[in-house]
Amino acid sequence: MRVLVTGASGHIGSAVVPELLGAGHEVVGLARSDRSAAALEAAGAEVLRGDLDDLDGLGAAAARADGVIHLAFKHEAMFAGDYAGAIDADLRAIEAIGGALAGSDKAFVNTAGSLSLGLAGITDRAATEDDVLQAGPRIEAENAVIALADRGVRSVVIRLAPLVHSTLDTQGFGPTLIRLAREQGAAAYVGDGANRWPAVHTRDAARLYRLAVESAPAGSRLHGVADEGIAFREIAETIGRQLGLPAQSVAPEEAGGRFSFLAGFAQVDNPMSSARTQELTGWRPTHPGLIADLEEGHYFAAPAGAEA
Ligand SMILES: NC(=O)c1ccc[n+]([C@@H]2O[C@H](COP(=O)([O-])OP(=O)(O)OC[C@H]3O[C@@H](n4cnc5c(N)ncnc54)[C@H](OP(=O)(O)O)[C@@H]3O)[C@@H](O)[C@H]2O)c1
Repeated sequence: MRVLVTGASGHIGSAVVPELLGAGHEVVGLARSDRSAAALEAAGAEVLRGDLDDLDGLGAAAARADGVIHLAFKHEAMFAGDYAGAIDADLRAIEAIGGALAGSDKAFVNTAGSLSLGLAGITDRAATEDDVLQAGPRIEAENAVIALADRGVRSVVIRLAPLVHSTLDTQGFGPTLIRLAREQGAAAYVGDGANRWPAVHTRDAARLYRLAVESAPAGSRLHGVADEGIAFREIAETIGRQLGLPAQSVAPEEAGGRFSFLAGFAQVDNPMSSARTQELTGWRPTHPGLIADLEEGHYFAAPAGAEA
C-alpha cells in the first residue's frame, strides 16, 4: 500500500514509518520543516511538504494514497494553552482527509487517548473497545472518524495509552514525570497512588497502526494498550529508584503544583483492556512493559526531554 502518514516525524510516527516500510509498503510522510523532511527522507519515506492547516493539500495527498495514518497533532499549541485550537485544527484535518477518502473504502487510521475513558469514570472494570463516549475534547474527533465508515471510508481509531514508552520517547508523559521528579527531589503520586495508568511500547503501538491500516474493519475502535493498568505509585516508585529519589504521596489539592500540565490526569484511574483489539487484528505486544523499560535505564541517561 501507499500510506500517507501525518506526524511521521514525531515520536510514534518515527516507529510507524519503519514498521510500514519493513512490511513492504510505500510511505509518504507529511513534513512542515526541513528538519522533519530530512529525517523522513533518511528513514526511506517520500516527503510531502505541508502543514495540517493546508486542508486542500492534505485532501489531495489522501486521495493519491491507498490509506492514511493520522498522527500529527498541534502539541505546541496545546502546551501554549490553546488546546481548543489544536482540537479544532485536528477536526478540520480529519474532515479534509475523510472527505477525500469518502466512497473509496480506503483506510483512515486515527489517534485518540485512553485517558478520556478514565476521566469519564470507567474505573470499576477495564474499559473496552465497545465503550463509547458522546462528548469530550478529542472524543468529537474520534466519533467523527468512526462516522466516516458510513461514507465509504475504512475508518479506524486507535486509543493510545498515555504512556507510550521506548528509547524514541523523549518528550511524552514519561519524560515529563521524570523531569518533574528531578526538579522536585521526589517522584510524586496522589493519595495512595492506587489509580492505574495503562502503557504500551512505541514499537508495539507502531505494529498496531500497521495492522490497522492493512486490515482493521471499518468503524473499529482499537486499544493501543499492553500494560492494562499500572498503579501510579508503582510508576513513581520506579522513577524514584532510578533517580535515587524518594516516591512521595501528595494530597489531591497539591497535584496542581506538582504535576504541571499533567495535574488533571495524575489522579485518573484508567484500566484498559485490549482483548478485543488483539482478537480483531491479531496484534500481540511483544516489547518490554513500562516498568521493565523504565528499569532498563535509558530514560535516565540524560535529563528528560533532551535529544537522545
Ligand atoms: N506519545 C504518547 O504517549 C501519546 C499518548 C496518547 C496519544 N498520543 C497522540 O498520538 C499522536 C502522536 O503523538 P506523538 O507522541 O508521536 O507526538 P509528537 O512526537 O509530538 O509528534 C507530533 C507530530 O505532529 C507533527 N505536527 C505538529 N504540528 C503540525 C502541523 N501544524 N502541521 C503538520 N504536522 C504537525 C510534528 O511535526 P514536526 O516534526 O514538524 O514537529 C510531529 O511529526 C498525537 O495525536 C498524540 O496526541 C500520544
